[in-house]
Amino acid sequence: IGRTALRSALRTPTSARLFSSSAASNRAVAVLGASGGIGQPLSLLLKNDPLVTQLRLFDVRLAPGVAADIGHVNTPAVTTGYSPDGPEGGLEKALEGAEVIVIPAGVPRKPGMTRDDLFNTNASIVRDLAKVAAKVAPKAHLCIISNPVNSTVPICREVFKKAGVYDPKKLYGVTTLDVTRASTFLSGISGAKPSETIVPVVGGHSGVTIVPLLSQAAQGSSVQAGEQYEKLVHRIQFGGDEVVKAKDGAGSATLSMAYAAAVFTNSLLRALNGEKGVKECAYVESPLYKDQGVDFFATPVTLGTDGVEEIHPVGKISSEEEKLIEACVPELKKNIEKGVSWCAENP
Ligand code: NAI
Repeated sequence: IGRTALRSALRTPTSARLFSSSAASNRAVAVLGASGGIGQPLSLLLKNDPLVTQLRLFDVRLAPGVAADIGHVNTPAVTTGYSPDGPEGGLEKALEGAEVIVIPAGVPRKPGMTRDDLFNTNASIVRDLAKVAAKVAPKAHLCIISNPVNSTVPICREVFKKAGVYDPKKLYGVTTLDVTRASTFLSGISGAKPSETIVPVVGGHSGVTIVPLLSQAAQGSSVQAGEQYEKLVHRIQFGGDEVVKAKDGAGSATLSMAYAAAVFTNSLLRALNGEKGVKECAYVESPLYKDQGVDFFATPVTLGTDGVEEIHPVGKISSEEEKLIEACVPELKKNIEKGVSWCAENP
């Protein structure tokens, strides 16, 4: 490949979906936890997103360095690093005028840990970041990656409610990695292109709360029941464990998560810019299972200029999937209650 061709290949998006743009607008995106395993590649991918005009990178360590490095990439997003004692200022400065805030701050899993084992550390990190966001950027869209997502998202709601600035349309738990994994794993079986293998994943983001709706995927008909089906569902639900095990103590999924979060952020920005019909699965405050005490539930949502525009129902599902939902709902309820009551005790 010649130099010119290489340069042009680097400029040509490899995934139309990841880097597609619709209109030029000023979009300031802040990443909190930007120096971490997810934060760094996510920040790089966002720097490569033509819809991002300002990229604010905050972390308790190293963010000015990460920003200096990423800032040399010749794409338009103006990149600034913020740290508690850095020259550009700390968290408040990073959030001033931010329209989208993506939060991967926290600790990741080690082998043998569940996402819930991270609760004690990450709950207070997310609460403290959300408090500042509610004060400095109350109208921003908040995309939560820090685990356990099932509980950290309700924690953010409580913080925003207490500050009197909660808007359910602007709070999202990022579950895109589950959708990404489902697509990859099913396409590995069916042989169809991953880009054409779309599997809605509903519920929450841990273990049995992750419910892939294979019956709704065009290629899913080959694996509707039986051992292969069960194995595939298990792999989607516990795919994160494969990475935790393979990294052998060095953390959990970071690169695939960064990709998934960049996809979600790009979708949100396209919707904010007025593109119609942008749909992603996300863990949002939802009426669907409220009668069973579950305030948050992931389903496909249509995003619009104000955030969540329409929450789509689960739709027609198989009897196997009904059983998966039955297992998901009580677990999700516990996770949500845990976040809400922790917040009441630790305001
Ligand atoms: P990491 O430990 O590599 O990075 C976390 C970063 O957060 C570090 O740079 C750390 O300095 C920073 N940090 C800690 N406290 C902070 C604070 N108060 N303010 C700002 N930054 C702070 O961890 P990694 O692998 O990047 O994972 C981050 C989180 O994402 C974990 O909770 C992990 O479980 C979660 N995760 C979520 C997934 C999802 O699908 N939603 C998938 C994979 C991981």
